[in-house]
Amino acid sequence: MSATYTVAVAGLGKRGVHHADAVARNARFKLVGLCDIDPARLDEAKKKFGVGYGSTDAAQMLKETKPDVFVFCTLPQLRLPLIKAGVEAKVKLIAYEKPVATSMNEAIEMRKLTQAAGVKTVVSHQHRYGQHYQKVKEIIASGALGRVHTVYGTSIGWMMHMMSHMIDYASWYNDYSDPVWVAGQASGTEKFADVHASPDYIAAVVQYANGVRGYIECGADAPDVPEVDSMWHKCRIGAQGTEGFAEVLTGKEGKGGGWRAVTKNGVQSGPGFMDYAHDMPPYIQDIANWLDDPKKVHPCDGERAYKGLEVMMGAMRSVVARGKVKLPLGPAEPELEALKRVLS
Ligand SMILES: NC(=O)c1ccc[n+]([C@@H]2O[C@H](COP(=O)([O-])OP(=O)(O)OC[C@H]3O[C@@H](n4cnc5c(N)ncnc54)[C@H](O)[C@@H]3O)[C@@H](O)[C@H]2O)c1
Repeated sequence: MSATYTVAVAGLGKRGVHHADAVARNARFKLVGLCDIDPARLDEAKKKFGVGYGSTDAAQMLKETKPDVFVFCTLPQLRLPLIKAGVEAKVKLIAYEKPVATSMNEAIEMRKLTQAAGVKTVVSHQHRYGQHYQKVKEIIASGALGRVHTVYGTSIGWMMHMMSHMIDYASWYNDYSDPVWVAGQASGTEKFADVHASPDYIAAVVQYANGVRGYIECGADAPDVPEVDSMWHKCRIGAQGTEGFAEVLTGKEGKGGGWRAVTKNGVQSGPGFMDYAHDMPPYIQDIANWLDDPKKVHPCDGERAYKGLEVMMGAMRSVVARGKVKLPLGPAEPELEALKRVLS
């Protein structure tokens, strides 16, 4: 009989509830604890999911419920302390929200802790489960584009919200070849005041080890996607090769989105839109699959997300240093602070 994995969730806002919901609906998991610093949100979630245990302190919840899986969905400022709490409670896997961290220093510490303890990590780049995202991957993998030389991802949503997603899916379309250097440019300081603190616009040129070039743009000056009538869903991610291109437009239900390709087989296109209800169940199921079998690495493996974060942080360092930045990255001045200083 398959094991049932126990799960505790901290941060019960929009994304925490999405996670708790997908866990509660999956027979391979049992929700054993919920946590939010907001008691009203906590009570509401306890009722909604029929969970007896609740706490306003994540470390206490982990000590008392000893889950196999710790999920946390807090805003970007809160990562390292919750990773520490999960590792100390000896969980098997920590699933958390993008972006991985707000600085490379923090991400390096987080990775040291989880690697030393043998704790698996998963980062929520779940858009990839969309059928339109999968269709583009299928076309690229079929060889219909010939030799892929370029991948790209653009979003008019700002960096700390969207760049993690753009880098991850563009890298997926390039088989997660390692990024070896990045050159960046950025402008605008208004969005530094946001909880997802970011430059208003950032562009990153990425060189991958397999020779493919990546172009990532996020923020106000990124290209519009006029086919999609929803600000957060105006994302275009794809690949170009010697014999064509294929790309996904993230989209939203009733607001446009889908995929298109031009290859030697002709012009093709199809519908699609980003849908949490569609994307979360397989994302959660893949956690059970990885815990069952170490060879079934989760598609949203934290190690991939870490490399993606290096691209984002490398782009910011590149703006500050006015040059190309080689990866992997070591510790340095926190990137957002350094970037804000030079843009101000
Ligand atoms: N993957 C995606 O598609 C996607 C979509 C939206 C947001 N996100 C990301 O998800 C994360 C959370 O976003 P959200 O929209 O759910 O935010 P939210 O503000 O709705 O929820 C955050 C919750 O965390 C709680 N919280 C804060 N500190 C806490 C602590 N110490 N312990 C326990 N709970 C605490 C807050 O009270 C709040 O309820 C962000 O990093 C965001 O970028 C991802």
